Amino acid sequence: MKNIAIYPGTFDPITNGHIDIIERVCKIFGKVIIAIAKETNKECLFSPEERVHLAEIATKNICNVEVEAFDGLAVDYVKRKGSSVMIRGLRAVSDFEYELQLALANRSLCEDVETVFLTPQSKYLYLSSSMVKQIIKLGGNIKEYVPEAVFNAVKDKMKST
Ligand code: COA
Repeated sequence: MKNIAIYPGTFDPITNGHIDIIERVCKIFGKVIIAIAKETNKECLFSPEERVHLAEIATKNICNVEVEAFDGLAVDYVKRKGSSVMIRGLRAVSDFEYELQLALANRSLCEDVETVFLTPQSKYLYLSSSMVKQIIKLGGNIKEYVPEAVFNAVKDKMKST
């Protein structure tokens, strides 16, 4: 049961900061499922199917990763997958309060699901999906922070919207 970890998030789109976390999780757990939330309060650039596709391309070289979209509560998804571990990335201190709130809310929904926090390397500490989208929109160079397929997908999407 502890051998599967679920990494839920919006992933709009996946970035190298997320991939950094995923690579770390893959060394600890036998299988990692990137769980892409279909319902989110955010206005997403990409549909759930597109976010799944980009995450699949970005992690194609990591053998023990699966990607799936989910709806409903994240804790219910974790249980459905036979796991008891939810992964969250902790970047700067500013993440802490929100992540603590999320972890405690999830614990109150399900005592059996534990949240495990991992930190990415320091160059990704201030990276976010919104920042990536904004920089690409304004013509900045952010290739170091996203896989090439993601960079191109964001550029194409912005042209067509
Ligand atoms: N590298 C780069 N960016 C990172 C990162 C990393 N390692 N870790 C976090 N981020 C960024 C994301 O890019 C995202 O940036 P954005 O706000 O610009 O889009 C931000 O941090 C946080 O995103 P995410 O990890 O996707 O969290 P979220 O708050 O968008 O989503 C869910 C949280 C989807 C896990 C949560 O809402 C959920 O579980 N929803 C399902 C319904 C549910 O169970 N609700 C009850 C929860 S108590």
